[in-house]
Parts: sequence; C-alpha cells; structure tokens
Amino acid sequence: MDHYGVIGNPIQHSKSPEIFKLFANQTQQLLIYERILVEKESLEAELSKLKTRHFKGVNVTLPFKQQAFALMDTVSERAKQAQAVNTITLNPDGTLSGDNTDGIGFIRDLTRNHRFDIRGKKVLLLGAGGAIRGVMPAILNEEPAAMTIANRTAEKAIALAKSFSGNIQACGLSALNTQKFDLVVNGTSASLHAEDLALPDGLFNAGACSYDMVYGKGQTPYLQWSEQQGAKVVVDGSGMLIEQAAESFYLWRGTRPVTQGICEVIA
Ligand code: ATR
Repeated sequence: MDHYGVIGNPIQHSKSPEIFKLFANQTQQLLIYERILVEKESLEAELSKLKTRHFKGVNVTLPFKQQAFALMDTVSERAKQAQAVNTITLNPDGTLSGDNTDGIGFIRDLTRNHRFDIRGKKVLLLGAGGAIRGVMPAILNEEPAAMTIANRTAEKAIALAKSFSGNIQACGLSALNTQKFDLVVNGTSASLHAEDLALPDGLFNAGACSYDMVYGKGQTPYLQWSEQQGAKVVVDGSGMLIEQAAESFYLWRGTRPVTQGICEVIA
C-alpha cells in the first residue's frame, strides 16, 4: 500500500489524515496517510528517513513550509512564487519535488464554494508571514482592483509587498483607519493564541467577505468581530484545508476527489 503523511509541529490536531481517508474511499484508492511529528531542527533528517520508508509523498504544515522549500531538488512555479512548499513528492530516483497547493485551495474555496469573485475587488491581507505569502500569488492572479497588506510590524508588510510586482500598498495595522475593502483575509496567528487583532471599525464595504485562514471548533474571534462589523460572507480555513488537500491528492494520485460535503463530515 502507498504511504503518505503530513509533517508539522504540532501535528496532533491535523485533520489531513481524515480528509485523505475520505478522498481515498471515494476514489477507491488504497493508501495510508499518517501524522508525522518532527522536531524543529529535524526536517532534513526526517525526509531522508521517509525515503528509506518508501513514502510517495508528504504534506507540510506549520512551521516547516519555508524550510521545506529550501530542501527540494525541484520546485513548481507556484511554490517558487510562494517561497514555500506544502506538498512534497518523493520520486523513485530519490529526488524531492516541491509544490504549493495553498493558493489554489484558497481560491477554489472562495470562488467555487462561497461564490466570491476577487476580480476587480479591493483586497486587504492581514499579516505578513508564511500564510499570507502562500496565498498572495494566487490572489494577484485573479486581478483584484487593489491590494493592501497590513501587519502589526509595518516593515514586514512593506518588505513582502516589495517582493511582488504590481501596485501593492503596505502599512501597519494601526494605520488602517478610513479605508474600506471587499475582501479581508486574516493570515495572522493571532486567533491561534486567542489574541485580539485590534482592528479599526468600518473596514468592510457592503457585500464584503471576511476570511480567516485559521479553523477550529466554533467561530474564530476575528470572524465573530467581522460579523458584528457587517461582513456579509464569513469563512474559516476549513474549506481551504480541504481544497488544498484535494489538489495534493490529484498531484499524487492523478484523480480529483469531490470536495463537497467533506467539511460537514470532518467538522
Ligand atoms: P505564519 O507562517 O503562520 O504566517 P509567522 O511567519 O510567524 O507565521 O507570522 C505570523 C503573523 O501573525 C505575523 O504577521 C505576525 O505579526 P508580526 O510580523 O508583527 O509578528 C502576526 N501576528 C501574530 N500575533 C499577532 C497579534 N496578536 N496581533 C497582530 N498580529 C499578530
């Protein structure tokens, strides 16, 4: 049976094994998919170990996506743009190929599952770490009217904006006051630590969508706040998780699983 898994730290909370099991049953494929806890300095050694265990592929989650990018023999264009890898294929010749399905997962969830079209919209990205970098190329591809990156540490937002071409504004969170947006994406880790983002009132245009890349039990504080602020569509990261997994599954198995209904099963 073919072996796959997900590497991260922490990893116990990961829903990927459940999602892959559902995909495998649905497409009648025989495979094993396991959680792999890796110590912060041990990614390279772990990948070598997986080669000897004849793994065919692994997904990569926090905090290893950027580190994994540096360890690949070849990377896809979308991984190169994101400077991060979430899907590794272990090739028969021992080489590692890296790809990134986070961007396409985000776009598919937003456009197909929530029917929100980014083209021509004003987009605000909150945060300037790996999560935001991972989805930026895919969002830019959809040709929004304008993009702003706001981060607690303004310098990081400015540096991230500069690393992409196009007219991207960047500022500190505290500098967001009078502007309004059609799509606001929270890619900070504030929800994970139950911390408040302290955003100004009135960020959302009529009909706006608020997206939190984090998912968990119940609604995140950021999404609760978004609803109070009048965001029309509020979305957590569970759909993106399923869509990026579906794209990884397709890369590895050559068949595309149906994603409708998976969210309800794993909730
Ligand atoms: P990831 O790879 O998940 O994006 P990261 O690179 O550590 O993780 O980035 C975390 C992001 O969340 C950063 O943008 C961070 O802001 P700083 O660059 O100022 O550190 C943001 N963040 C974390 N906690 C936050 C909080 N309480 N309020 C606002 N932003 C926060």
